[in-house]
Amino acid sequence: MEMNRNEVISLVIRMTLLSTCAYFGTKWLIGQIDPTNQQKKRSKETALSKLRSLGLHKMKNLTDHELMIASHLVNPYDITVSWNNIAGLSQVIDEIKETVIFPVQRKELLRNSVLTKPPKGVLLHGPPGCGKTMIAKATAREAGMNFLYLDVSLLTDKWYGESQKLAGAVFSLAQKLQPCIIFIDEIDSFLRSRTQHDHEATAMMKAQFMMLWDGLSTDPENTVIVMGATNRPKDLDPAILRRMPATFEISLPGEQQRKEILTLVLNTEQCADNVDLHQLAISTTGFSGSDLQELCRIASLFRIKDLIKEEELQKCTLNSNPINAASINMLRPISMDDLVASVIKMKASKVVSTTQPRF
Ligand SMILES: Nc1ncnc2c1ncn2[C@@H]1O[C@H](COP(=O)(O)OP(=O)(O)O)[C@@H](O)[C@H]1O
Ligand SMILES: [Mg+2]
Repeated sequence: MEMNRNEVISLVIRMTLLSTCAYFGTKWLIGQIDPTNQQKKRSKETALSKLRSLGLHKMKNLTDHELMIASHLVNPYDITVSWNNIAGLSQVIDEIKETVIFPVQRKELLRNSVLTKPPKGVLLHGPPGCGKTMIAKATAREAGMNFLYLDVSLLTDKWYGESQKLAGAVFSLAQKLQPCIIFIDEIDSFLRSRTQHDHEATAMMKAQFMMLWDGLSTDPENTVIVMGATNRPKDLDPAILRRMPATFEISLPGEQQRKEILTLVLNTEQCADNVDLHQLAISTTGFSGSDLQELCRIASLFRIKDLIKEEELQKCTLNSNPINAASINMLRPISMDDLVASVIKMKASKVVSTTQPRF
């Protein structure tokens, strides 16, 4: 039985429609099944809004991987940390200004000098809570450089699947966004010494990361700096250390530095006349910057506790509700007793935290 011409055409149309539906249907289904799909979609939206805020949304040809990395972009003008927020580290800050920021800002002036090019790698190392992340952010802000913040969870969670493409995207995106700082927090957990036990994917990613990093040096017009922060510089791969010639130690603050940090933190608070920051600095040996910040926060809470107690008492005796405006006026200044009690509390909890097993 022969089909006439019309029947053949209609059959072809039906087959085409059917295969188109099947194609898009399968694609949709795969999209729904892929658990990272929503995440990818979200990071794409974040990336686009960040690029828009930088006026870079017209930047064409960004790959999906570059967009995923771009969602971790920070506009230098949105960074709130400046040198003024960092106390007791003026020497390190001066060195960073000379070796990193000046060569970036005055590129033209130093064009013919090989010795004074901005370094391709900068390492900040020292115990936790001493200002490494703050310094990295303030550097980006001061130098007006875009800031790609790659924290360790991004590098370990997502990178295993598509590690090589993402590693490539970090560098290609940074080049498109230059001047740019690629900041890798806790760099030791990602680029630690290579061992025989390394997963093959990890080893390959490290090798590729270093290759891309070396590629930065071949183009003199590139202003991309990889900045890493670590608590354990000894765990870092020696090949990585070689690529970070500018190394800054951010150690625990000494007595004078602690006094400077306490002065800065308490600057915005009302303190009683008897507050002796010199004495406090003496009694806080071993405290980091973030410990000192916490110490002041706890001390500040004591007066709120007192105020609540006082108001409860008033409520009982006068049987009337305290007026909020009056309560604000009644908040007393932070006293030396508050601060001393806070030091004792912090020291007690420090003992607990150091006797706990560490993982
Ligand atoms: N030198 C410092 N001056 C002022 N505040 C500090 C200093 N060091 C640490 N802090 C406080 O501790 C917090 C954590 O600091 P951060 O830079 O994240 O430390 P790190 O990256 O070295 O672990 C900061 O947000 C800040 O409140
Ligand atoms: Mg940090």
